[in-house]
Amino acid sequence: MAKQEDDFKKVISHAKEYGYVFQSSEIYDGLSAVYDYAQNGAELKKNIQEYWWKAMVQLNDNIVGIDAAILMHPTTWKASGHVDAFNDPLIDNKDSKKRYRADVLVEDYVAKIEGKIEKEVTKAAKRFGDSFDKEQFLATNQRVVEYQEKVTSTLKRLGKSLENEDLVDVKALIEELEIACPMSGSKNWTDVKQFNLMFGTKLGASADSAMDLYLRPETAQGIFVNFLNVQKSGRMKIPFGIAQTGKAFRNEIVARQFIFRMREFEQMEMQFFIKPGTQKEWYEQWKEKRMKWHLSLGMGQENYRFHDHDKLAHYADAAADIEFRFPFGFKELEGIHSRTDFDLSKHQEFSGKKLQYFDTEENKNYVPYVVETSIGLDRMFLAVFANSLQEEELENGSTRTVLKLPAVLAPTKAAVFPLVKKDGLPEIAKEIIDDLKWDFNVLYDEKDAVGRRYRRQDANGTPFCITVDHQTIEDKTVTIRHRDSMNQERVAISALKELIHAAVDMKTWLMKMA
Ligand code: GAP
Repeated sequence: MAKQEDDFKKVISHAKEYGYVFQSSEIYDGLSAVYDYAQNGAELKKNIQEYWWKAMVQLNDNIVGIDAAILMHPTTWKASGHVDAFNDPLIDNKDSKKRYRADVLVEDYVAKIEGKIEKEVTKAAKRFGDSFDKEQFLATNQRVVEYQEKVTSTLKRLGKSLENEDLVDVKALIEELEIACPMSGSKNWTDVKQFNLMFGTKLGASADSAMDLYLRPETAQGIFVNFLNVQKSGRMKIPFGIAQTGKAFRNEIVARQFIFRMREFEQMEMQFFIKPGTQKEWYEQWKEKRMKWHLSLGMGQENYRFHDHDKLAHYADAAADIEFRFPFGFKELEGIHSRTDFDLSKHQEFSGKKLQYFDTEENKNYVPYVVETSIGLDRMFLAVFANSLQEEELENGSTRTVLKLPAVLAPTKAAVFPLVKKDGLPEIAKEIIDDLKWDFNVLYDEKDAVGRRYRRQDANGTPFCITVDHQTIEDKTVTIRHRDSMNQERVAISALKELIHAAVDMKTWLMKMA
């Protein structure tokens, strides 16, 4: 646990030191769970967003993208169920005065047991070597079987109590499991209460005529209310999807995990409208497609897993998370939900406007069903950033800090250095920059020894460093150094564009999904 916390602290401080993420309004001591993206962070975030948008909108001829407003008519949130049901169960520790999400306390308890299972597996794998059969071990090792039973029964009970809104039982579960406040170790808990997560705001100039609004807690509703507008204006035929990315706001109770859980964050969501009765098949397809998108970034298959929900949201008939191994363990990165016709039917009921589709093949009208994919852009940023940050022992005994971002997402693709600040080398380096900048984000650096400049770019996540030296004057070649392997090769200046392009081209990366 201490190592996990240590690793996570390193992620946070690296993000600040190298211009990725800053605490919002830091000079006023910050605002809890609100963050700003800095010069490199804004680029990384934009690249992730584009990688998603291309995969969803550009590569699917039946998916279009929109950009709906953050402020919506307040009835939207009555219809969607958010006013009545968008609650988190909260619990306070009477001694430390710290507030927690009751379900998260239980889930963290379960995650600890899962950690123990993983440890047993690693130990056994070492002991048995090549003959190790993980499946058999999981099914037969007495201790692991007991751990697994505990996990299953705890999650089942939590799911059931939350579904039945039985908050007394949620508290009883916390007490039975002897869960202590992570800050103080105290087990002195208040009752569990529901807390609505929406931020309120007002529209209008004078207090008496002002209208109460909410900042949207998910982008999805902007898609639902525009379903018919898009379908008609785009002459879309079912099955089709509407995608969008944008800000969402939640007054999170527990927001202590950097950009994992923020109060202002960004979502990338897609609603796929389908014929009722086909939802199971589309749900499975989108689970698979979204996992392929993640795997195309090469961050290791072992770092992802599906988690099927026991407790379903008020709108879903099936739901799964794609979980990622964050520095603090496996946690939700993306949700795939089969939302039935809940949202469209509710908007139809509350607005009094028909939100139906005329199916020419079936020759009838119906309210479409929806399968949704929903990923947090900031959470994806954290997954990419944390996974990429590595410390390597080098052969000479030193360590280097390297941010092995997938090259396609890296904020800066290449840094160009003159070996020395004289003999015309800076001028050549700047000419190279002037040529490459039309295709890629590149930067010029002439400060410090080349070795230190390499290290700076390693920590910055820049995939290539190009050094101009005296040989360049003679034969128009440069040294190009690869961030991950640290290999260097001599190449013609005229070959640089092609070489960088091959490594960072979005098309090449996206094609790995096929
Ligand atoms: N429209 C469905 C929906 O909003 P969700 O599971 O509440 O579902 C979807 O959110 C995704 O949005 C999550 O998987 C997560 O990546 C991201 N997300 C949710 N709350 C967040 C928060 N407070 N901070 C950062 N990302 C968040």
